[in-house]
Amino acid sequence: MLALRLWDGNGSARLLEADPERGALLLERLDHRRSLRDLPIRRAVPVIAEMLRRLAIRPPDGLRTTGGIARQLQVSLPKRWEVAGRPFSSSMLDTALGLAADLSTDHEALLVNHDLHYDQVLAGDREPWLVIDPLIVAGALEYQVGQLLWTRFDEIVEAPGLRWCVDALVDAAALDATLARSWAVLRATDYWLWGLAAGFTGDPVRCRGIVKLLDTWEGESPVSTLPSPGREEGLGRRPPGPGRRNFLAHSRL
Ligand SMILES: Nc1ncnc2c1ncn2[C@@H]1O[C@H](COP(=O)(O)OP(=O)(O)OP(=O)(O)O)[C@@H](O)[C@H]1O
Ligand SMILES: [Mg+2]
Repeated sequence: MLALRLWDGNGSARLLEADPERGALLLERLDHRRSLRDLPIRRAVPVIAEMLRRLAIRPPDGLRTTGGIARQLQVSLPKRWEVAGRPFSSSMLDTALGLAADLSTDHEALLVNHDLHYDQVLAGDREPWLVIDPLIVAGALEYQVGQLLWTRFDEIVEAPGLRWCVDALVDAAALDATLARSWAVLRATDYWLWGLAAGFTGDPVRCRGIVKLLDTWEGESPVSTLPSPGREEGLGRRPPGPGRRNFLAHSRL
């Protein structure tokens, strides 16, 4: 509700009335039958990236920060990795922890909609596309790249490829490419463990694909050819490849 108030219809559905005690919101009506999910991925990615940037206004005080989330992940990831039965190599865990340490300092404070994905952008009359159902934190906009990859991962890896998608997000949202990859790996690792704990079978494999492909920038195998979670042959033990240059220095994959 706070975010919808702050945006006041600029990029989002308008909040017309609210009754916080009853948890009721009256929203501008958008077209629930048409979302960015319906656009081909090559068209949807630039639109959602521009939306991410447009919604990144100055945040109010008191929000959770992306740096704070990274600090929490430094504590929680090892325990969750153990509880999940060590689903990936310890060197991959170390990589994630190194990234979490690197990303734990908040350099810029922007409003980040951390539940922005293709189903949550609906067609409107006043504007072609408007956001619904936001969740917000303050900090680095690059935080949101991961979810924009895993929510349409199968289409992305089939074509046009993960590298195209990350580059397109970076370009259209004016992101820092290194931070974008680093946050994508960290959030995919976090969601991988979360998904396993929740009993998901698809998204953990997708997250594994994101981590692996972002590490190597090599062959972009379709998700169906990736080994299932739990069989981590060699993952995380590859020598650095040429695409590693832009990765944060703490990467030990
Ligand atoms: N302003 C709107 N105009 C038209 N339809 C809307 C609007 N807001 C929400 N909807 C419809 O309601 C659905 C759920 O809305 P919303 O995402 O806000 O709720 P939710 O409880 O978070 O659901 P979910 O868990 O699926 O995200 C949307 O996918 C859309 O179909
Ligand atoms: Mg929703």
